[in-house]
Amino acid sequence: MLCMRFDVLTIFPDMFTPILMDSIIGRAVKSGILEINTINIRDFSKDKHFKTDDYPYGGGSGMVMTPQPIYDAWQSVVNGLDYVPKLVYLSPQGNCLTQKKALELREEKHIVLLCGHYEGIDERIIELIVDEEVSIGDYVLTGGELPAMVLIDCVSRLVPGVLPSEEAFSNESHYSGLLEYPQYTRPYDFMGKTVPETLISGHHANIDKWRQEMSLKRTAQKRPDLLKPSPL
Ligand SMILES: C[S@@+](CC[C@H](N)C(=O)[O-])C[C@H]1O[C@@H](n2cnc3c(N)ncnc32)[C@H](O)[C@@H]1O
Repeated sequence: MLCMRFDVLTIFPDMFTPILMDSIIGRAVKSGILEINTINIRDFSKDKHFKTDDYPYGGGSGMVMTPQPIYDAWQSVVNGLDYVPKLVYLSPQGNCLTQKKALELREEKHIVLLCGHYEGIDERIIELIVDEEVSIGDYVLTGGELPAMVLIDCVSRLVPGVLPSEEAFSNESHYSGLLEYPQYTRPYDFMGKTVPETLISGHHANIDKWRQEMSLKRTAQKRPDLLKPSPL
């Protein structure tokens, strides 16, 4: 049963092949839980050389992605649908992609992702069709493809059926606002360092308590900012 669809508007569709071929996301696509399509913006260029960028008005360095191919690529997705999917432009100027934002986006049944390049896209595309700008962090990358893959990965793993159970992500870092507790696997003794006794006690209440305490402790150590009350 299809739970979520992504369409990616990009000038580098081949970059998405690895996430579609393998991994947990690839398996979810094969099993039909996710649908991920790439749309090559260049295919919609009306320029005789299939250009998708031009010089910025007002001068300055770099090129700007022209609005026509992006608009037509978007239309090719929307045409024939009886709803308008949310269009997210990956941009360093956008709302930060957090676990909370990922949980919000998983409620959409269909998201279109727009990947920019060069100096970015013509502002009129943002005014006309973009619903939200999303950033993956306060730094600048060369293109929106890696951010789109990051968004697809972190939103998809929250979609029911992609991971074995809700517990697989609800215990993880950032879900409840804390970092996850330390994890151990076999062997019991590795280079003289042993696994905490509570974890091998079989006492589930004690294990839960230990994990909660460790979660709080390592959040205080590694990310004290997460424990501060928000200004609002
Ligand atoms: C070189 S950047 C353009 C930056 C733009 N000139 C600015 O200063 O805001 C090219 C493209 O990469 C993508 N991009 C770069 N950094 C990003 C980030 N932190 N989050 C999401 N997308 C990003 C966007 O799609 C952007 O259009």
